[in-house]
Amino acid sequence: MKVLALYSNKGGVGKTATTVNLAYLAAQTGLQTLVCDLDAQSSTTFYFRVKPKLKKEARGLAKKKRAIDNSIKGTDYDNLDLLPADFSHRNLDLVFSRLKNPTHRLHKVFNQLQDEYDLIILDCPPYINLLAENIFNAADMLLVPLIPTVLSERTHKQLITFFSKKGYDTAKTNAFLSMVDRRKTLHRTLTESLRTKFDGVLDTFIPYSSDVEKMGLHREPVELSATQSTAAKAYRQLWDEVYLKLI
Ligand SMILES: Nc1ncnc2c1ncn2[C@@H]1O[C@H](COP(=O)(O)OP(=O)(O)OP(=O)(O)O)[C@@H](O)[C@H]1O
Ligand SMILES: [Mg+2]
Repeated sequence: MKVLALYSNKGGVGKTATTVNLAYLAAQTGLQTLVCDLDAQSSTTFYFRVKPKLKKEARGLAKKKRAIDNSIKGTDYDNLDLLPADFSHRNLDLVFSRLKNPTHRLHKVFNQLQDEYDLIILDCPPYINLLAENIFNAADMLLVPLIPTVLSERTHKQLITFFSKKGYDTAKTNAFLSMVDRRKTLHRTLTESLRTKFDGVLDTFIPYSSDVEKMGLHREPVELSATQSTAAKAYRQLWDEVYLKLI
């Protein structure tokens, strides 16, 4: 079993959109896949049309295995389950901080799911905090969407610095360019410079696309709502690249 985390310490960069699309593609290839929505905004949960019970969902992540079993839901798709998020997830940090070994709680919970799943994909909230450290310890690969802006470069530097300072393995951090508009000179320039400045930037980039924006309306991966689109093609290519590195 592998754990893939869509993580960035910057908000609104495409973590959730990528989680939904890659999870669908992974499940389609036959991998038993669990998407774990760790963000109290619960956007991934919304995209998969799952309605969580409105309390105590977060508890499954801080307690013994049975608790998480009760929270996991099926989705409309074969091989794809979801651990939904709700508003209680905003307290996960606090809940972990009160437990023993507070940076390894997620790792422990996911280890217990070894027999059921081939892949766990985490949609993460945009903070560097105790939950993030749980994610860094649990993930085999951290996949970071980088949007071609100056601020995005700054935020990614902060993450790499944090990783080095705390002794996390930077080699498990991969990034990809997200929301790229090739018509903009600045996007083209920054795309190239981000590739040279950071290690582990994948070849695939996800274009800025209204088909991705419309996922909120369709509540489906673009593979289903816009199969022929450049966005769907880009996500297929991204999944191929991630698959080769991770599985
Ligand atoms: N490739 C894309 N092209 C156009 N719009 C996109 C693309 N990817 C994501 N978006 C849109 O940008 C917004 C933010 O995307 P998303 O929710 O995936 O980001 P996020 O990193 O998960 O944000 P947050 O940090 O708030 O969880 C959404 O409205 C989404 O529809
Ligand atoms: Mg999100």
